[in-house]
Amino acid sequence: MKTIVVTGATRGLGLAIAKRCAEEGYKVVGIGRELSSELQSLSAEHPQQIFFEAYDFEYTAGIHAFATRLAKEYGRPWGLVNNAALGHDGVLATLHERDIAELIKVNIEAPILLTKYLIRPMLINRGGRIVNISSIIASTGFNGLSVYAATKAALSGFTRSLAREVGKAGITVNTVAPGYMETDMTSGLQGEKLQSIRRRSPLGQLARPDDVANAVSFLLGEQALSVTGSTMTIDAGSTA
Ligand SMILES: NC(=O)c1ccc[n+]([C@@H]2O[C@H](COP(=O)([O-])OP(=O)(O)OC[C@H]3O[C@@H](n4cnc5c(N)ncnc54)[C@H](OP(=O)(O)O)[C@@H]3O)[C@@H](O)[C@H]2O)c1
Repeated sequence: MKTIVVTGATRGLGLAIAKRCAEEGYKVVGIGRELSSELQSLSAEHPQQIFFEAYDFEYTAGIHAFATRLAKEYGRPWGLVNNAALGHDGVLATLHERDIAELIKVNIEAPILLTKYLIRPMLINRGGRIVNISSIIASTGFNGLSVYAATKAALSGFTRSLAREVGKAGITVNTVAPGYMETDMTSGLQGEKLQSIRRRSPLGQLARPDDVANAVSFLLGEQALSVTGSTMTIDAGSTA
């Protein structure tokens, strides 16, 4: 059974990705700070396939040892989905330095380090899949999200150059850029603002976590053999 490591699998998009991967027959190692009841029930439904590992990605110094242990305990991973992220918002002039530092650590430094250490077993396997979850905000603008946007744009740049580096070893690296989805991260955005985002979509709707999980599942699969260094935008057309 191929192993996929999914960060931020306790809620929202990561939970949808973990579910989809289990349905596809993968073994999933889901990471988050704390086990949620949703991931616990999913794991009870798929006891041989879904495992939880607690880790706080703010603690970047421990990522090397953590990644080494994951590969030892669960086998060399086939795939890594860098999905965990913080969504702190606020205008830059008043955003706390602490929030800026946290965004940079969790959203960009941690996925780079986790990839660095999990790509080593993939290089030994001569194959693998890395999927980085960015956002449409990496290439469009949104008031109050400049630092978050910087981290997401960084992840897209990381994808393209890493794809060039590891392609010869049969490893693909791609970005998935979701549009606005209704999850805990966006629970603060309601009412007219939410309606206006929905109206921007030619389909008159928002992308759902399950829609984005389908794209991730495609990129993890054998059929995506020739897709690397690319970005799949799943936003119900809102940036069209
Ligand atoms: N929602 C949207 O509209 C939207 C749009 C575009 C892109 N995205 C991207 O999609 C991805 C998933 O977002 P979401 O909406 O599902 O967010 P969410 O509901 O807030 O979930 C975030 C996940 O990341 C984990 N996480 C956060 N900080 C962590 C840390 N320090 N260490 C370990 N895990 C941590 C959380 O787990 P714990 O709380 O258990 O630690 C949780 O599982 C993110 O990369 C986000 O930037 C979201």
